[in-house]
Amino acid sequence: MQITLTRPDDWHLHLRDGEALASVLPHTARQFARAIVMPNLRPPVTTVVAAAAYRARILAAVPAGTIFEPLMTLYLTDGTTVDEIRRAVDSDFVRAVKLYPAGATTNSDAGVSDLERCAAVLEEMERSSLPLLVHGEVTDPAIDVFDREKVFIERILRPLLARYSGLKVVFEHITTSDAADFVAACGPRVAATITAHHLLYNRNAIFAGGIRPHYYCLPVLKREVHRQALLRAATSGSPKFFLGTDSAPHAQTTKEVSCGCAGCYTAHAALELYAEAFASANALHRLEAFASFNGPDFYGLPRNAGQVTLVEEEWRTPQSFAYGDGESLVPLRAGELLRWRLLG
Ligand code: NCD
Ligand code: ZN
Repeated sequence: MQITLTRPDDWHLHLRDGEALASVLPHTARQFARAIVMPNLRPPVTTVVAAAAYRARILAAVPAGTIFEPLMTLYLTDGTTVDEIRRAVDSDFVRAVKLYPAGATTNSDAGVSDLERCAAVLEEMERSSLPLLVHGEVTDPAIDVFDREKVFIERILRPLLARYSGLKVVFEHITTSDAADFVAACGPRVAATITAHHLLYNRNAIFAGGIRPHYYCLPVLKREVHRQALLRAATSGSPKFFLGTDSAPHAQTTKEVSCGCAGCYTAHAALELYAEAFASANALHRLEAFASFNGPDFYGLPRNAGQVTLVEEEWRTPQSFAYGDGESLVPLRAGELLRWRLLG
């Protein structure tokens, strides 16, 4: 069995910087023609000038002979200006702005504390059709960590969409049936990315026989009913759902500790993992739209030329990859079998 797809893109990716960037970028560039690159560096990428410099560092790390286009994002803060949004729109490489509620996830302390402060910026984005990418979790410590996405919809997202009725929004890495239903019920200006790991695993994976830090990410894996709802959404044929790996590399030493970082690394086998999820739902025929059409259509970018082929063939994921300056990176499914293999 094999399947050939139009060359896909990754609409949510963490590439980091420096030597870590050089370690992970070849995995993504082998699979995807383009990726929406998250701006949560230290310090965050908050200006078009910083995005241009980061883009140049990414392009310098692309392996020779590979064509890969980073689609850059700006990190929204309380201090983002309307002029910065205009510069972003005028650039041909900043494609979106990312909203991290302050404190919601890795490197989000500079995030937005009150969306009211961003009103003029959001109006400008609405006017110019620059999408807002949303990390959809409230940060209220009184809200159970498994409920933070569901509560975000009612407290933040629904009012935001009502107030800015033309704003394009991507609800990033959705993890619940609530989010899938919400996005499906919205008009075409609202879409969502779904990771491979949220299609393949429920929260039991974090606790199977002991605590497993490599299954810990944010938003955290949820119950099986939610996984099934995400799989239904991804394989439904709806153009509102598309591929975003949220591949988020962290050094082994920062995952396997008493307070480990959030993030699953999936870039080494992203398409293979998605193929496994789609095959489990007998929906491989829906993978191409999810991986290669819905994202560019939403962003108003051309679909890619060229193709990739996946074959149904077992292979074993490495236990780890070299990462940055002498560190290791443990990927999802480390040392385990995968059922699909990307050719080339
Ligand atoms: C991401 C990271 O490590 O940058 N971590 C994660 O668990 N997904 C941040 C994010 O996307 O929330
Ligand atoms: Zn992310």
